[in-house]
Amino acid sequence: MSLIDLRSDTVTRPTDAMRRAMAAAEVGDDVFGDDPTVIALEGRAADMLGKEAGLFVTSGTQGNLVAQLAHLARGQETIAPSESHMIVDEAAGHAVIVGTSIRGLRERPDGTLDPAEIADAFRDPSDPHEPITGLVSLENTHAHSMAQPLSVEYTATVAAIAHERGVPLHVDGARFFNAVVAQGVTARALAGPADSVTFCLSKGLGCPVGSIVVGSKDFIWRARRARKLVGGGLRQVGILAAAGLVALSDGPDGMIERLADDHANARRLAEGLAELDGIISAGGIAQPTPGRLDPTRVRTNFVLFKVRGDRAAFLERLKVRNILMVEYPHGAIRAATHHDVSAGDVTTIIRAASDVLHEMAGRTRLPVGA
Ligand SMILES: Cc1ncc(COP(=O)(O)O)c(C=O)c1O
Repeated sequence: MSLIDLRSDTVTRPTDAMRRAMAAAEVGDDVFGDDPTVIALEGRAADMLGKEAGLFVTSGTQGNLVAQLAHLARGQETIAPSESHMIVDEAAGHAVIVGTSIRGLRERPDGTLDPAEIADAFRDPSDPHEPITGLVSLENTHAHSMAQPLSVEYTATVAAIAHERGVPLHVDGARFFNAVVAQGVTARALAGPADSVTFCLSKGLGCPVGSIVVGSKDFIWRARRARKLVGGGLRQVGILAAAGLVALSDGPDGMIERLADDHANARRLAEGLAELDGIISAGGIAQPTPGRLDPTRVRTNFVLFKVRGDRAAFLERLKVRNILMVEYPHGAIRAATHHDVSAGDVTTIIRAASDVLHEMAGRTRLPVGA
């Protein structure tokens, strides 16, 4: 049986169309600004999200980092969700490289922050004790809440709070297009209220490497300088950008519309898992209601759940059956669907999870049909 890898949506292999485009890519030296494929990709991304300019970066982490470097001065502070990637999973780049602090606010189960709490979290710039609030950041989709998509209206509400106080809004949209597709809105509408957005090509969009940051021309100029500072100035990078252009294209090779399949597969996986004795709610902001896993929490491509009993043993026994999932914070397990997971695979995964749970409970499974 071939491997079904649900550890992340980053594990996708480039499609044949991407590999062909990469092999044939016209390239230049992007640090000199003359790689035509990179220029085309940055332009396409900026246009799709309704911003003036775009910048190809190596990763989502680098995208968030250069956005912070471009928006913030040393000693300033960002308001962000306390379980966001920027706070939890970026090696404290905000402190180590940007020289700023982050004020984490507790998320609600729909992945949002309470607007009143955001307003309240702004520092008093006239008080010499306090850092100066320089940025508000949201995560869309919001991973730890089971990848909930944030709406256009909510983004606009937060942008208004930030802008009234003279502060920009950044969106870490590592899975921005999942949020777009799940809500049936345009990328332009969802990005509209934000001053900058990062999105990853290397996740659900299936590219081997890369993310894009978009924003105003001035912002992107500062981000470009910041990218150089962190060693992200690449040369014949059109080879990588070519895959991004395929992912963002209209038509059969494009990778955006098909994200709906990943969402449907994730929902069906959750429905199947929810029926199994031994699979329970992930708890926390992923699913605050205890007891049964609630499949309606799955709105994009993450299924977060817990197992009764030994999590490591469950994962190990799935692995023996060529199925990979990953440990997630707060004792949960994550299964992420993506381009390389088919609807047929979902049936296989549910069956395997059922077998493993029976095995762990010391019961022997009856053969099919018995
Ligand atoms: C919400 C979020 N932001 C940013 C990133 C960083 O992306 P990368 O792994 O490309 O650095 C991730 C990666 O998983 C993510 O989930």
